Amino acid sequence: MTHIAPRRRGLTAVKRVAAAGAVALAVASLEPVTAQAAPVPVVGGTPAAQNEFPFMVHLSMGCGGALYKKDVVLTAAHCVRGSGNNTRITVTAGVNELNSSSAIKVRSTKVKQAPGYDGTGKDWALIKLARPINLPTLKIATNTRYNRGVFTVAGWGDTKEDGGTGSNKLLKATVPYVPDSQCKWHYGNRLTPKDELCAGYPQGGVDTCQGDSGGPMFRKDDADRWIQVGIVSWGDGCARPGVPGIYTQVSTFASVISRAASAL
Ligand code: ARG
Repeated sequence: MTHIAPRRRGLTAVKRVAAAGAVALAVASLEPVTAQAAPVPVVGGTPAAQNEFPFMVHLSMGCGGALYKKDVVLTAAHCVRGSGNNTRITVTAGVNELNSSSAIKVRSTKVKQAPGYDGTGKDWALIKLARPINLPTLKIATNTRYNRGVFTVAGWGDTKEDGGTGSNKLLKATVPYVPDSQCKWHYGNRLTPKDELCAGYPQGGVDTCQGDSGGPMFRKDDADRWIQVGIVSWGDGCARPGVPGIYTQVSTFASVISRAASAL
């Protein structure tokens, strides 16, 4: 399994074959293949629009995250080393393009890793920021109501499973919910059902990947607002057929996350 592997950069995974196909198509239609086309998004994946996901942040250790409060980021436990004071993490917000001059960069002051985190389930952590960032936050699911349907994922992680280098641009994709019973066809008892949610297409091709960890998986609620249901956690490879991505089931931890954020 690929779990403790945050990379410096990341992006929503797309299959190399499909990416090559897209380039071939562009060439065939005499469309100029510009530098902009570089991370060619494929099956369900595209560059995010500016301000489409204003709560989305990049973490300097090579993970994603979401603004839970103006001064607190929700990410994955496996993206951090433990709890306590920590001023080493740089949070980049407000941009899709990581090296944009308009990026908001704020340092961490403290980290709270999920109590009892041991690499199995409980893959969440909070990062307190040195100052608040004035951008919309992403609320988290407090019950299981939204743990179904089609989810959106976004990140700067790898665009392919092997030898990916990540993306400077924020990529997004949508992936359907996979019931635990089906997710177990591949993962068996490596899945911790109450702590984890699975998502992906039976045929693969769209997934999160290395460097996307810690980023949110979200959908619209009944009031048409984004709500976070998952945190990018792990998977065997990326975007393989029959192998869903595994996400922290946020609803399971909503109250403990809320209390931890208030105490941070
Ligand atoms: N553990 C990876 C990271 O640290 C995320 C892997 C997600 N994998 C997947 N197939 N959905 O960035």
